[in-house]
Amino acid sequence: MYDRRIVELFMHPPGAGRMENPDAVGQCGDPECGDFVRIYLRIAGHYIIDAKFECQGCPAAIAVAALTVQLAKGRHLDEAWEITEQVILQHLPLPEDKHHCSNLGPGALHDAIVYWVVHSLKDAAQAQDGVVPRASSHSSDKVEEAYNGS
Ligand code: FES
Repeated sequence: MYDRRIVELFMHPPGAGRMENPDAVGQCGDPECGDFVRIYLRIAGHYIIDAKFECQGCPAAIAVAALTVQLAKGRHLDEAWEITEQVILQHLPLPEDKHHCSNLGPGALHDAIVYWVVHSLKDAAQAQDGVVPRASSHSSDKVEEAYNGS
């Protein structure tokens, strides 16, 4: 039996859906063979100004993904990095046999942050070398390419 907070997040998940032209996307799990969470971020000045998710998984995983994007919104990337499985479990009393689902949200969030950092460094290096990066080279089509096929 799920706690009412989990049921509420599952029934009305804030932030559910795909984001158009995200600045970063991250994923945990594998859509080809099972459960996964994918998180999209819009980032400005190192702050997460918007976040959305897609999830294939149990009600606990959907609640975890919804909570993860709720917690991430408005946070500096450094603070968002601190959103871990333990933080999720402090907010959501998942049944013991569902504890493993709690890593899908933070895992996808961390993957998205790493994605953004790597691509930002690449853009900065290119700019230093005099190469003008394509407009939003780490957003839209490249982000989509990274996680297409699901
Ligand atoms: Fe697989 Fe929850 S996502 S059991």
